[in-house]
Amino acid sequence: MLARLAADFERFGREWPRDFATHVREAYRIDLSARYLGHALRHPFGKASGQLSLNEDQLEADRTAGVAFVVLKTVIAQDEAGARGMEAWAIHETRMRVERRAAADGREGWTVTWNGRGWDRPFEDYLALVRLAAEMTRSGTMVAVPSVKYHLPRLDETFRDPEYEFTTRRLVDAWGEDGLPLEKDFSPTLAGDALGDEQERILRWIREVPARIRAGAGTRPVRLALKLMNARFDDAFQRRMLEAASGADALVVFNRLWDSDRRVAYGGWDLSDRNLRVLAAARTLALPPLSGTGNVVTGRVALEYARRGCESVQLHTFFQLPLSEYPAAAGTRQQRALHALVFHPRDGIIAGMLDLEASGVLARRGGELRFLDLAEQRP
Ligand SMILES: Cc1cc2nc3c(=O)[nH]c(=O)nc-3n(C[C@H](O)[C@H](O)[C@H](O)COP(=O)(O)O)c2cc1C
Repeated sequence: MLARLAADFERFGREWPRDFATHVREAYRIDLSARYLGHALRHPFGKASGQLSLNEDQLEADRTAGVAFVVLKTVIAQDEAGARGMEAWAIHETRMRVERRAAADGREGWTVTWNGRGWDRPFEDYLALVRLAAEMTRSGTMVAVPSVKYHLPRLDETFRDPEYEFTTRRLVDAWGEDGLPLEKDFSPTLAGDALGDEQERILRWIREVPARIRAGAGTRPVRLALKLMNARFDDAFQRRMLEAASGADALVVFNRLWDSDRRVAYGGWDLSDRNLRVLAAARTLALPPLSGTGNVVTGRVALEYARRGCESVQLHTFFQLPLSEYPAAAGTRQQRALHALVFHPRDGIIAGMLDLEASGVLARRGGELRFLDLAEQRP
């Protein structure tokens, strides 16, 4: 198996196969099937919401590479007149810096530094992208899901329901007949904002937002993932956020950390360490299905998220590294990233699953090792 893996790593680094998940199943008897927000996926690797899911070209390249799912850039909700409670999040910024970032324990990782926030073009343009996402999802080639940031009030304020209604209805109409899958983003900039200062305020949002969105959709069903932030409080509070999120159909855990000195969101090993630590501590909670995000830079990190209950993972930074950082000699960034995540002989998901088998953590069923068995082992 290891010799085969080395050979596949070498050849797929030159030419990426069209359907790698089927190859993995046939060659290694490893079933990479995964899940996100009720959708069956061919494998667990998806693209997280951000600057890499803004347009049709990016989606096409994701689909060609075989990315399992994509979350579109977050749009800022508006009411019919175009008013937006979260207007401050709709700023335009193009410059991103992909940088090294050392974790507290010294490990070198990567982060993308960027001062922008949400979708900064007209809402109509976003709806056109949602129509395309719906077509792709229905055609079965790639799941693509919109993301929204809705108005979030202070404790003495009410939710701006007209924003919830107008935005959700337009998204539901653009998506079409079957239920709209939707991510609601609680972002690190929110954690860094004065709005994110109060624990009770954050918990109220998490408790009440799902019902607001569903009410906004009227009689049409919405499948809702809440993408929780890393608040500026301790691990115990992260756990309270998880407990408050029972109204969601899935949780994305957890968006980036906030650097209050530099006033930027960041990732790297501090992010995955915190996320994995909180998820491990929350293992006994009954939670909606989980999708992991944060510093998934190897197949092995993806498996760590899976062992803490995640049925899929969403990456941003690893799809944006300098080309020289990927071991593949050819292909798009998406292809090169998947190549490393899946076939790397030491750090890829195949090598990782074979190790879990060898150490007795994962057993074959019907002759196959199954990725989803890891998440389902969660007590
Ligand atoms: C430049 C940039 C823009 C992002 N924009 C969004 C966004 O609009 N909505 C959102 O939910 N997450 C956003 N994120 C967070 C990512 O989706 C992802 O969850 C996070 O970066 C952790 O994954 P990573 O460590 O693989 O980058 C953004 C991240 C980056 C780096």
